[in-house]
Amino acid sequence: MMPLRWLALATCASALIAPLAPKPRVTLQATVAEATGGANAALIDDLAARTKDARSLADDLIPCGDDTDLKTWLARFLGDDGDVDAAEAKVRESIEWRTGEGKKICEAARDAVNEATSEGAWTNKPVQEKAPHGSKINAFFEGGRVMNLRNKQGDGLIYAIRAGDIDDKALMSAVTVEELADFFLYAKAINERACASLSKRTGALATVTTVNDLAGVDLLGDASFRNALSAASKQGDAYFPGLSGPTVLLNLPRLLGALVKLFTPLFPESVRAKLRFERHELGEAGALGTESGRANLSDYIADLLG
Ligand SMILES: *[C@@H]1O[C@H](CO)[C@@H](O)[C@H](O)[C@H]1NC(C)=O
Repeated sequence: MMPLRWLALATCASALIAPLAPKPRVTLQATVAEATGGANAALIDDLAARTKDARSLADDLIPCGDDTDLKTWLARFLGDDGDVDAAEAKVRESIEWRTGEGKKICEAARDAVNEATSEGAWTNKPVQEKAPHGSKINAFFEGGRVMNLRNKQGDGLIYAIRAGDIDDKALMSAVTVEELADFFLYAKAINERACASLSKRTGALATVTTVNDLAGVDLLGDASFRNALSAASKQGDAYFPGLSGPTVLLNLPRLLGALVKLFTPLFPESVRAKLRFERHELGEAGALGTESGRANLSDYIADLLG
C-alpha cells in the first residue's frame, strides 16, 4: 500500500511541477546597457539588419518607438549566447504570429496600453475591457486572483496567480482552452509593452516575476486549468522571449513540499536560480485586490529575490 501511495504522490508531484517549472532559459543581462552594449552591440546591429524585412510588416505590433527600443527588444531575442541565426529565426517566428494568428491579440494589447497610459498614471480598466474573451474570463480572476503589479524597486513586474481561489472547474466549462490561451497571450503582450516602457525609463532590463500561490489547490482534481496556463506560457515564451524572470511557487502542499526539497538539489543551477519554492501567506482571498495586500507582496518579493 505504502509504495503505491508514494507512486501516486510522485506522479501528482511531477504533474504539478512539470507544467509550472520554467525550462532553463537563456539568462539576460540585468541592464539595457549590458544587454545591448559591449560584444552584443555588433550582434544586435546584425540582427536588426537581417530582420528588417520582417519587421517592416509588423508595424506597431512590436513595442519599438525608436532605435533604442528596437535594440532592447532584439536583445531579448538574442539572450546572451550570441547566436544570431537562432535569434533571427525567433524574431521571424514571433512576427509571423503577430501579423497572423496573434494579430488581434497584439492590436488589442497595443490599444489597451495606449489607453491605460493616456492620462499619465496606469489605469487597468482598458486592459481588462480589451482582454480577449474577457467578458467570460475576467470575473474568475477578479479580487486579485490574477494580478499584475509593479515590483518594489519599480524596475520590473510581478504576475501573481492564486490558483487555489480560482473556480477552475467553472472557468474551464465557460471557456475553451484556446480562448484561455488567447487571454494569457494577451497578458504577455501587455507585459511586453509594460516591460519595454519600464526598461526605457529605468535602464534596467525589466522582466516579470511569476508568483504561483498553490494554497488551497486540489492537486488530485482537474488539472486542465494548470495545463492551459502552462501551454499558453510556453507559447508566450516563444513569441515574447526574454520577459520571464524568476518563478516563485508558494505554499506547495506539505508532503509535496518535502518531496521537492528532496529533488531540488538535482535541478541544474540555471533552474534553481529561476525557480523558488517558498511558504508565505499572501493574506485572505481578495488581499491582492487591495493596495496593502499588493504592497505586502512586493515587499516580500523584494526581500526574497533582492
Ligand atoms: C499586509 O501586512 C500587514 C502587516 O503584516 C497586515 O497588517 C495587513 O493585514 C496585510 N494586508 C493584507 C491585505 O493582507
